[in-house]
Amino acid sequence: MSQPIEYEFTSKQFKAFQELVRVHTGIAISDEKKELIYGRLTRRLRRLKMDSFEEYYQLVKSGDNEELENFINAVTTNLTSFFREAHHFEHMKTVLIPKLLEQNATSKKIRIWSAGCSTGEEPYSIAITLMESIPDIHHWDVKILATDIDSEVLAKAKSGIYKAERIEELPQEMIKQWFKRGKGSKEGFVRVAPELQSLITFRQLNLLADWPVKGPFDILFCRNVVIYFDKPTQKILFEKFSNVLAAHGHMYIGHSETLYKISDDFELLGQTIYKKCA
Ligand SMILES: C[S@@+](CC[C@H](N)C(=O)[O-])C[C@H]1O[C@@H](n2cnc3c(N)ncnc32)[C@H](O)[C@@H]1O
Repeated sequence: MSQPIEYEFTSKQFKAFQELVRVHTGIAISDEKKELIYGRLTRRLRRLKMDSFEEYYQLVKSGDNEELENFINAVTTNLTSFFREAHHFEHMKTVLIPKLLEQNATSKKIRIWSAGCSTGEEPYSIAITLMESIPDIHHWDVKILATDIDSEVLAKAKSGIYKAERIEELPQEMIKQWFKRGKGSKEGFVRVAPELQSLITFRQLNLLADWPVKGPFDILFCRNVVIYFDKPTQKILFEKFSNVLAAHGHMYIGHSETLYKISDDFELLGQTIYKKCA
């Protein structure tokens, strides 16, 4: 078997790619990630049968849309899971949904945004929580907007098909109710129930660009996304999030994220749960 080609990847080239990623995604790639980025981008170089990082850089920089999309897909980190940071779903079920059922009793509307939804486990967990805590949900106008910059993860999210091992830790009752196990060639995979899918609209959206979103949202999930952004970008982002949240809106962020010294528009309720200030 022939050895895969190794490419030269100088510090200067790495810096140029760091800047390209920052401009297009807001993601600040740290200097320690040189090897990781090398690994992810060499796959693109090989696929395109290119000889050097310089050649690839010129292609992406030229604004070749198709490759810019592949480039962005290659540099994003998409780690996620069903009911990740489970306390947010518990809070939603026991505190926020009962409140919303009262507050929005006239409009009978609930709007939720999962920003940076990756492969969909987060919005499907939201959908399950809604279904299981609103007995007359069919009389309500409930919509979840699920967005991500990465077109590949979004396609996966939309399909609603997962490896069965992804749901192993969920309660048996939940699995029975909301997932169908594949048979034959689909053995080892599960598909989410169409009722969950019907609550969700998946859209490609770059949080750094314009947001064609309506709002106002009652609840916003933006978890484990801004951790990759620098502080000035986070400041801009949370101001925009505050603007699309309803007056009584709440926001969940990731376990290692904080709004401390980033935004004064939110009050911390505890455990990365925020409420928009009056
Ligand atoms: C680590 S995943 C988090 C998934 C999920 N929110 C969770 O907590 O499990 C981060 C996601 O943010 C997305 N992302 C990164 N930069 C983005 C940007 N500028 N606009 C929109 N999404 C972005 C990535 O593509 C990735 O899917």
